[in-house]
Formats: sequence, C-alpha cells, structure tokens
Amino acid sequence: MRILVLGGTQFLGRAIAAHAVGLGHAVTCAARGLSGVAPPGVRFIAVDRDRPEGLAGLAGTKFDAAVDVARHPGQVRRALAALDGRVGHWTFVSTTSVYADTATPGQRAGTARLLAPSEDGTYGAAKVTCERALDGGALICRAGLIAGPGDPTGRFPYWVARLARGGEVLAPADPEDPVQLIDARDLAGWIVRAARDGLSGTFDAVAPPCTRRAFLDRCAASFGASYTATWVDPAFLDRHGAARESGPFSLPLPLPDTIGDASRDVSPTLAAGLTLRPLEETVRDTLHWLEAGGGPMTGLTADEEAALLRAWHAGRGRGPA
Ligand SMILES: NC(=O)c1ccc[n+]([C@@H]2O[C@H](COP(=O)([O-])OP(=O)(O)OC[C@H]3O[C@@H](n4cnc5c(N)ncnc54)[C@H](OP(=O)(O)O)[C@@H]3O)[C@@H](O)[C@H]2O)c1
Repeated sequence: MRILVLGGTQFLGRAIAAHAVGLGHAVTCAARGLSGVAPPGVRFIAVDRDRPEGLAGLAGTKFDAAVDVARHPGQVRRALAALDGRVGHWTFVSTTSVYADTATPGQRAGTARLLAPSEDGTYGAAKVTCERALDGGALICRAGLIAGPGDPTGRFPYWVARLARGGEVLAPADPEDPVQLIDARDLAGWIVRAARDGLSGTFDAVAPPCTRRAFLDRCAASFGASYTATWVDPAFLDRHGAARESGPFSLPLPLPDTIGDASRDVSPTLAAGLTLRPLEETVRDTLHWLEAGGGPMTGLTADEEAALLRAWHAGRGRGPA
C-alpha cells in the first residue's frame, strides 16, 4: 500500500509509519519536522497544516490509505479538501476524551454520549469536531492512554521508573479502580491492518482495563522489583497541591471522577482485530528506552513522594494531614 501519515514525527504517528515500513509499504510522512524526525525508510514531505497552502507538497500524489493524528479541526478539514479523491481509506486518531460522561464505567464507543463539538475549545470537544469532518467510510480510533517507548507525555514512564526503584510507592485512590492503556505499537499494528482491510466505523482503541493494584504489581514484576503500595485518598493529594494526571508534582493516573475514561468496554475493538502484547513487554521496553536516554518524565520527584508519604503517615490516626 501507499500510506500517508499526516504526522509521523513523534510517538504514535512515528510508530504507525515505522510499522508500515517494516511490512514493506510505501510510506509518506507529512509534517513540519519540528516534533522530531520521521522513521528511516519513509518519504518525508514538509507541510504546515496551519497555512492555507501548507499542504502543497502533497499535490498530485495518490494514496491507498491516510492516517491523521491532528487535534485541530481546521487542519483536518484542510487535509480532507487538499487530498479529496486521492485517498482510498482514511483513519483518524481521536481520543476517549471526546466523551461527556467520564464517571460511568464500562461504556462503549457506539453508544456513549459525546461532548458538544467545538472549534477551538477543550481538546476533547475539538476532537469531536475533527471526527465530524470525516465521512462514514473512515475509521475513527479513539485512543486512551498511549504507552511504550517514545512516549512524550511522561505519564506511563513515571510508573515504570517508579516501580523499577521499588520500596514504598505512593499510589492514588482505590487499588480496585481501573487503569486502561494501549501500547503505541499495538495501536499502530491495528491501524495499518485496518487500513489494509478497509475497516470503517468508530472504536475505542485501548486494551481492556485492569485494576490499579494489578497494574502496579505487573509493572514491578516485569523487572523483579519489590515494592509496597501506600494508597492515598485523592482529597489528601488535592490538599497538598498534587496535580491530576500529568505535569510536575502530579501522580499520573486518572482519579475516581474520571474512571469512566479508564474502564471502557472494548469488546467491539477486539472483535475488529486489535491484538495486544503483554503489559510486561511494554513496561520492559519503556524502561530500556528510558535507560537509553528516552523522553521527559512527569510526576513526583523521589523527594516529593517521600515528603507526601511522611505527611500521609503523620496524618493517619489524628484526622486528615
Ligand atoms: N498520548 C496519549 O496518551 C493519547 C491519548 C489519547 C489520544 N491520543 C491521540 O493520539 C495521537 C497521538 O499522535 P502522536 O503521538 O503522533 O503525537 P501528536 O502530538 O498528536 O503529533 C502531532 C503530529 O502532527 C504534526 N503537526 C503538528 N502541527 C502541525 C502542523 N501545523 N503542520 C503539520 N504537521 C503538524 C507533528 O509534527 P511536527 O511538529 O513535526 O510538525 C506531529 O507529528 C493524537 O491524535 C492524540 O490526540 C493520544
């Protein structure tokens, strides 16, 4: 296949391009080249999707399939117009942040309520608008937390690096709460297969959930680390100014008011061909990537975590810390 990746200079887009090249497809990546470099073996075309004529470099070329990872509706519409009639199959990578109800567990893509579309509002609302620009023949993959080597967000890498250190680990909320993620390479593999097969429709693109306890246990077991988890109340973290999900001084796992986002029913996606590697493989590969100098880290420093643990233990038995 001749495959166009609109993106391809970082994480998921790059994994899609690399996977397709590995299968012998003719891959073009189109981006500005600011986020990183496209993988070896692709044809790179410089485009700027924020400029009206910014996709001129793609003029006249035909593709069997295109994959778009954009977040801005204007960029999606501009690409659809510029490539009109020259792409066989479209995949749009969206997000589970499009859903309005983030609390109810076990929702499915086909029936869950969406946020009101917006041109330049929140990330999820803008993705709803992006999705609506595509026609019914497209594949829409609503990804959850994407993990694995190359992750620029630092969220999953925080837990990998933290569990590798072992010892007493500060963990947010209830150990039975869900965690749900997908290895970028599994998502890439499914997207390329789905493009080959002409799959259309809207799917949540994430692995089935596991509990937080199982998630931490499996991370630690991936490299034989020994640890104990101290589960702390989210209200304690709020009182101490710990941010939610990402950024400095955060614990990057969803909290109870967003567990609907981490417990989606993905049986339709599995039936449509998504296959998954064991979490342990994702954990080990991410650790190797980090050890080789891989990406940024978010979350608590060791000193910040130790201070929060001290405050938590000091406060127990005599009311909130
Ligand atoms: N990470 C997660 O946990 C997560 C969770 C749910 C959903 N998602 C979705 O999954 C996808 C992840 O995609 P990704 O990892 O490839 O990263 P990304 O951060 O979405 O990458 C954006 C890509 O678009 C290119 N780009 C940005 N502005 C551009 C412009 N003006 N003109 C041309 N190209 C432009 C960037 O390259 P240049 O900067 O080089 O131009 C880059 O390759 C996204 O759709 C995201 O919304 C991610």
